Amino acid sequence: MKIKSFKLKNFRNYEYLHLDLDPAANIFYGDNAQGKTNILEAVYLSGTTKSHRGTKDRDMIRFGENESHIEMIVEKKGIDYRLDMHLKKNSPKGIAINKMPIRRAGELFGIVNLVFFSPEDLNIIKNGPGERRRFIDLELSQLDKVYLSDLTNYNRIVNQRNHLLKEMSFGKSESYMDTLEIWEMQMIQYGEKIIERRKKFVDEINKIISSIHKKLTGYKENIEVIYEPSNGNISLEEAVKKNREKDMRIKSTSVGPHRDDICFMNKDLDIRRFGSQGQQRTAALSLKLSEIELVKQAIHDTPVLLLDDVLSELDKHRQNYLLDSIHDVQTLITCTGVEEFVNHRFSINKVFHVHNGQIVNEN
Ligand SMILES: Nc1ncnc2c1ncn2[C@@H]1O[C@H](COP(=O)(O)OP(=O)(O)OP(=O)(O)O)[C@@H](O)[C@H]1O
Ligand SMILES: [Mg+2]
Repeated sequence: MKIKSFKLKNFRNYEYLHLDLDPAANIFYGDNAQGKTNILEAVYLSGTTKSHRGTKDRDMIRFGENESHIEMIVEKKGIDYRLDMHLKKNSPKGIAINKMPIRRAGELFGIVNLVFFSPEDLNIIKNGPGERRRFIDLELSQLDKVYLSDLTNYNRIVNQRNHLLKEMSFGKSESYMDTLEIWEMQMIQYGEKIIERRKKFVDEINKIISSIHKKLTGYKENIEVIYEPSNGNISLEEAVKKNREKDMRIKSTSVGPHRDDICFMNKDLDIRRFGSQGQQRTAALSLKLSEIELVKQAIHDTPVLLLDDVLSELDKHRQNYLLDSIHDVQTLITCTGVEEFVNHRFSINKVFHVHNGQIVNEN
């Protein structure tokens, strides 16, 4: 898929913007705090309904305004689609495909596929398990509508169970226990499906990541991704029952896919715990490049890649490898200076200068 153009109205520091994009590489450069990341955020939001920064809708509306509008024209397999998103200060956002309002984000995922890559992604191995779960969840939610719906249900049920555990601390009653068992049954049902799908995702990543990682490390290192369920080697059902007393005491749910992790091994070394910073970042880059490959295979098409200030974080070898790997993908790249790209084999098709919420196309 490709993004042909987009318009922003009252989004972050943009009052109004209309841009036509190149089907290959688009560079957005400018000083800090001028609105480069805001562009990528608008595109990501329009394609996934969520900000990659996790920002609330109302905070993305331009200060002093009540509504934002993003319109994006995308092409998928020769067909053009118009996507509209209205952010409102005091009510839920409105989304439409070809002017027909839609209710669920899942409807967008058949049309738009985006991979966001920011400097924080390079810390995914080093950071806590929450970020690694978020990575899997974001990816699978875009690729698999059933997963998205299972995850939504699962999260809702865990919240309800936690809420009940808090209420129960004011006194146990028979009906509380019955309700708890009902939530647990549903939690296990959705939880098992989520774990199974995530394990399959990890298998799919493993088929791709090792050759990427070998090339990135000059054939010096290996990588294997392993799914680590919080229930260990007992079933989720057993684990939930086993932890019930404890959960009642701590008033929260201590096992389940919302507590799982993924582990990255270099032979016998757990890169999360024992890898050097460089090894961790290289593993993260391999993971990200595998993600792009996996999305390509899953959608039989290319996603659009949003690269936020990532190149300056990598050494020349890794920069080159990244740029070579994405030559067939439409890319929106932000950076503070454009000079670093000039010497690359990578051809820059469109260069935009970003300054204080305004953009000038320089070619
Ligand atoms: N809701 C909003 N309304 C108006 N301006 C906003 C809003 N939210 C953020 N901004 C402004 O947007 C600017 C930041 O934009 P952005 O994050 O895109 O910067 P950037 O060009 O990516 O900078 P850096 O190079 O530091 O990453 C800030 O000046 C901030 O004040
Ligand atoms: Mg930025």
